[in-house]
Amino acid sequence: MEEKIKEIRRRLDDAVTRAADSDAIEQIRVSFLGKKGMVTDLLKDLKEVDGAAKKEFGMKINLLKSEAEKRIAERVDALKQAELERRIEAAESYDVTLPPASAAGSYHPITLVTRDLEQIFTSMGFTVEDYFEVTDDYNCFEALNIPKHHPARDMQDTYYLDNGQLLKTQTSAAQNTIMKKYGAPLRAIFPGRCFRNEATDACHENTFFQMEGMMIDRDISISNLIYFMKTMLSKVFGRPIEVRLRPGFFPFVEPGFELDINCLICGGKGCPSCKNSGWLELCPCGMIHPNVLTAGGIDPEEYTGFAFGLGLTRLAMMRYGIKDIRDLNSGNLTALSQFISE
Ligand code: DAH
Repeated sequence: MEEKIKEIRRRLDDAVTRAADSDAIEQIRVSFLGKKGMVTDLLKDLKEVDGAAKKEFGMKINLLKSEAEKRIAERVDALKQAELERRIEAAESYDVTLPPASAAGSYHPITLVTRDLEQIFTSMGFTVEDYFEVTDDYNCFEALNIPKHHPARDMQDTYYLDNGQLLKTQTSAAQNTIMKKYGAPLRAIFPGRCFRNEATDACHENTFFQMEGMMIDRDISISNLIYFMKTMLSKVFGRPIEVRLRPGFFPFVEPGFELDINCLICGGKGCPSCKNSGWLELCPCGMIHPNVLTAGGIDPEEYTGFAFGLGLTRLAMMRYGIKDIRDLNSGNLTALSQFISE
């Protein structure tokens, strides 16, 4: 009996040391501790032993059994640990010739300029308003002093929906809603996506962004308009920007202006981005037409105000030197992910 126990212990030692995976360990468990296993067999042999020897061997067999259980459990743990280490090592080794996986994202240039402008205008007491992309004829045109059949509608080739609604062609579409919401006095900006049925080229897109702004109060004049536009542009570009004001026609402002800035891509020499003029129309603006104030529930005898419709998409192109407007909607991450927040 004594010899048998020794022999089993030796075999156990040998087998456990050599076991290289969980299958091998399982086999060892069965062959030592299973129903017909070596340790279990010993217990059967014990029946033949008598008296004090039975007790002694019984204790020795139990000891062997718990030793076997412990050795097997330890080996299972060691194998698991080794497997884990192997996996970690495999995961950490990488091919340095592969292109880097860009873990850090970046903001879209439109998002970057929008945030900057929001910050500039909120610092000047403006609120930032949200507005829908689907609107109706009243908000997009009629409330802006563009009645049905007015030729000014032709300038904006509109996407109409089957239910009579339309995709907003200009952020001005929010003016009426915002005037009705807050009344006067009012200072608000409202950035948004606009849609027009345009033939696309380097400077035209059917989907683009504008940022509208309105300031309404007593005694607001063109001087206020010019001051806010100049302050905003020099803050956006971080230096004084050359601007040009021309008369412009928009039914919802009187007088209306085109505010142009010197093309930063070609320096004013002329290039496809500025239609070879050296100037970019950036910010049409003007004094809000009395009809528009009235439609918004504001008394034009008491209040005046200015409005502007900044071309956010153009501004982003100027600021980041993007030559083709189509890049912005392209989803081309190589082009778009280079604009990290400054
Ligand atoms: N909504 C006009 C457009 O998209 C731009 C515009 C012009 C907005 C003059 C204004 C404004 O607020 O005063 O063509």
